[in-house]
Amino acid sequence: MSVPVLLDCDPGHDDAIALLLALASPEVELLGVTTVAGNQTLEKTTANALRVLEFVDRGDVPVAAGAARPLLRDPFVAAYVHGESGLEGPDLPPAQGRPVREHAVDFLADRILGSDHPVTLVPVGPLTNVALLLARHPDAAGRLERIVLMGGSIAEGNVTPAAEFNIWADPEAAQRVFASGLDVTMIGLDVTHKALMTGEHAERLRAAGRTGRMVAELYDFFHEYHARTYGFEGSPIHDAVALAHAFRPGIVETVERHVVVDCASELCRGRTVVDLWRRTENEPNAHVGIGVDADAFLELLVERIATFP
Ligand code: BDR
Ligand code: CA
Repeated sequence: MSVPVLLDCDPGHDDAIALLLALASPEVELLGVTTVAGNQTLEKTTANALRVLEFVDRGDVPVAAGAARPLLRDPFVAAYVHGESGLEGPDLPPAQGRPVREHAVDFLADRILGSDHPVTLVPVGPLTNVALLLARHPDAAGRLERIVLMGGSIAEGNVTPAAEFNIWADPEAAQRVFASGLDVTMIGLDVTHKALMTGEHAERLRAAGRTGRMVAELYDFFHEYHARTYGFEGSPIHDAVALAHAFRPGIVETVERHVVVDCASELCRGRTVVDLWRRTENEPNAHVGIGVDADAFLELLVERIATFP
């Protein structure tokens, strides 16, 4: 049986690739896409989700726009990583279609309640929509199979020395998700920074067809930032690791630990404080990714994207 999945995203280069991985994977039944402000404004992330779907002739997948700003914090976009459009690199035509009329939070609830099988929610942007779902539709949230999110890290940051972007952008929302009592998996930088797509993968995709070429162009732009900033000889495709973990067990190794988000300090705003060595009596509230079979992930990714014409 395929896994019913809802993808909540802020495309975003790696979000776009995660979306394509979902579409290309028969193990996934993609019930819809919801968007949130993050890498770029809500208007741009929503348009980008539509542009990617339309590029591969999947305009039939519904897109619902959600929160335009974090719960409490000032909006902040990552144009320095993803460019002005949020998806710089390939020459993608403007969106033809429109998002559905329903707000993302209500759309998520409807799809969760309407599914014959429990749904896996994969949030790969700031967690604003998910926190609002918990507040507005606790019954629907309680029906989820699990949440596999991209965000946080045990030991490093990418927007500040202490924090990862998705959690930093809306720490109060993230804390609500970790404290929700739902089955939460955290795929953080400790994992995603160990699975770098390289120029070699990009060349294989470039030769595979127009979608492969588009993904290679996303990589070219995204990689430039990672080379400049971290000296990486490749690029993490963060969000696609979370998506892969939702349907392919065994690629990411997880441990059960307690996670709390720092919402109080400015210095460590959005840090996911993971009790890795069990220094407290707190019961685990998340499965935390600690290792990844990078080759297995990248082979899966390239193989699946290459199936698009
Ligand atoms: C996360 O932040 C965004 O820039 C990426 O799309 C990813 O979801 C990585 O920190
Ligand atoms: Ca993202």
